[in-house]
Amino acid sequence: MGRKKVTIVGAGNVGATSAHWIASKELADVVLVDVVEGLAAGKALDLAQSGPVMDFDLKIVGTTGYEATADSDVVVITAGVPRKKDPVTGKFPSRDELVKTNQNIVGEVTRQVAKYSPHSIIIVVSNPLDAMCHVALHESGFPSQRVIGQAGALDTARYKTFIAMELGVSVRDVHGIVLGGHGDTMVPLPRHTSIAGIPVRELMAEDKLQAIIERTRNGGGEIVGLLGVSAWYAPAAGTVEMVEAILKDQKRVIPSAVYLKGEYGYNDLFIGVPAVLGAGGVERVIVMDLNAEEKAMLDHSAEAVRSVVSILGY
Ligand code: LAC
Repeated sequence: MGRKKVTIVGAGNVGATSAHWIASKELADVVLVDVVEGLAAGKALDLAQSGPVMDFDLKIVGTTGYEATADSDVVVITAGVPRKKDPVTGKFPSRDELVKTNQNIVGEVTRQVAKYSPHSIIIVVSNPLDAMCHVALHESGFPSQRVIGQAGALDTARYKTFIAMELGVSVRDVHGIVLGGHGDTMVPLPRHTSIAGIPVRELMAEDKLQAIIERTRNGGGEIVGLLGVSAWYAPAAGTVEMVEAILKDQKRVIPSAVYLKGEYGYNDLFIGVPAVLGAGGVERVIVMDLNAEEKAMLDHSAEAVRSVVSILGY
């Protein structure tokens, strides 16, 4: 078995930070791709030069083309136009407004990925996330277990962070899960949230919990409001959690945007649900026993995702 290889398309903040954490965990050789001349090559060279100090030994290269990406095990797609303040109106586009522009970008990227790495597993990170998963599935022609969206890993990480901050406990001891689309309709599940096994509602008042749920739903927007651009540390962390689960065949249970074929009552739809991630990609979808209120929230989120997917015109 040779060394594992991960391609990351898009050398912006999320792509470059994903490469950084893949390197620091010494998970795989990395090929960084970006259409901007010099961007991927420069960041890859800079990162590679940190190897002797940070004690990793990997091949890290950057390029504008796809030849060097051939036969990657995992391909992370971060390419796309991010949420940025319009210099004229001062307004931020919603995730959904990015849909057509990013459909073209993710579509072209996916065709190249499928050509050079036909056996790879694709992790989609570009927004609007759930819709871009449909683009990657459609354009790659891959079986759906090899096209996965990164959203729940990030949303769950934000949710756990807020709970740990509120309770003054270690993030390590907070367990929980966020389902649904990657947007304002996402579904954090307090009934399934615990601190070292203790149900969160035994430790936190309902109004505090609801405030955390709202803050989680707006987690991306909060960062955009502070920085003027999208987040990257936590999105990259969520992405690398999934990359590691696949490369090491860990069978991790990570909420991910996966293509449903009847599970939870949805067909032909990518949405965030608990998935077992291993060498085969999505090896299993776990169907939770949701109550009526939780299912109604997931239905609402599925409708929101469907309305964006319908713009794609497939
Ligand atoms: C976020 C954007 C990147 O949630 O979707 O931060």
